[in-house]
Amino acid sequence: MYLEYWGFKKTPFDNVPDPDFFYMSKPHKEGLTRLIYAVEMRKGCALLSGDIGCGKTTLSRVFIQRISGEGFHVGVISNPCLDSTEFLQDVLYKLKIAEVPDTKVEILKVLSDKLTDNVKGNRETLLIIDEAQLLTDATLEEVRLLLNFQLSDRFLITIILLGQPELIDKIKRIRQLEQRIAIRYLLKPFNLEETISYVLFRQKRAGADRNVFSRQAIEAVYKHSGGLPRMINNLCDLALLIGYSEKRVITSDIIKEVIEDGAIF
Ligand SMILES: Nc1ncnc2c1ncn2[C@@H]1O[C@H](COP(=O)(O)OP(=O)(O)OP(=O)(O)O)[C@@H](O)[C@H]1O
Ligand SMILES: [Mg+2]
Repeated sequence: MYLEYWGFKKTPFDNVPDPDFFYMSKPHKEGLTRLIYAVEMRKGCALLSGDIGCGKTTLSRVFIQRISGEGFHVGVISNPCLDSTEFLQDVLYKLKIAEVPDTKVEILKVLSDKLTDNVKGNRETLLIIDEAQLLTDATLEEVRLLLNFQLSDRFLITIILLGQPELIDKIKRIRQLEQRIAIRYLLKPFNLEETISYVLFRQKRAGADRNVFSRQAIEAVYKHSGGLPRMINNLCDLALLIGYSEKRVITSDIIKEVIEDGAIF
C-alpha cells in the first residue's frame, strides 16, 4: 500500500520468518553458532529459548538453510502434539517416513530403523521442535527417550528444542532430561545499536535506497519494543503507514502516535 511512496519493492517489516530478511545480530549469531555446533558435533540435545518474538523461529529457518544438503535428514515440528503417541507419530511424519504405525512399540521400531539407515548413509538426523514450551511432561519424557537412540560412541539423533523461557523451568523439573541438554542458549532482544542497524537493514533489504526513520524515531521504537523484533516490526510497519498517509518522514512523534492510538500493545 505504502510501498511505492517510500520506494520499497517489498514490505520491509513483515512478521514472517523469512531468511532473506534475516539480520545477523550478535545474539542471533551466537545462537546460530551453537545450533550448528550441536548438530555437527552430535551433542544430542540443544535448547534455544528466548522471549516471545525475539527471533527463535526465524533463527531456526536460517539454521536449516545453513545445514541443508545431502548430509542431513531434518524434521521440524512446529505445533507439538500433547499426546505422546501422536507426538511420536508426528516425528515420523515430519521426518517424511511414509509408514506410520499405530502403536508406540512399532513407531519406535520404524524410527530406530530409519536412524540406523541414516547412519549407514552418512546422514545426520535432526529433529527441531518449535514452541517446545507446549510439550507436556509426558511428551518431554518421549523426547528424553528419543535421545536414548545411541551407538556406543554417538547419538543417532540431534534434537533441538526452541521455546519461550517457561520451557527452561519445565525442563528443570525433569532432571534426567535437563542433564542431557548439552547446548543451551538464551536469545536476547536487540540492544539500541542493533535495533538501529536492524531497522536500516530491513529497509535496505526491501529495496529502499534511503532510510526514512529519524534516529529519535528508532530510539522510541527501541524503548517501546525492548528490542524484540516482532514488536519492532509492528511499530515500524504502522509508522510507515501513518507517515505515508500524512506525507512525512518517520519521526519520534509518529512512533508516539502509533503507540498512543492503541493499535500496538
Ligand atoms: N534476526 C532477525 N532478523 C530479521 N528479522 C527477525 C529477526 N529475528 C526476528 N525477526 C522478525 O521478528 C518476527 C518474530 O520472530 P520469530 O517468530 O522468529 O520469534 P519467536 O522467538 O519464534 O517468537 P515466539 O516466541 O512467538 O514463537 C519474525 O517474523 C521476523 O520477521
Ligand atoms: Mg516462534
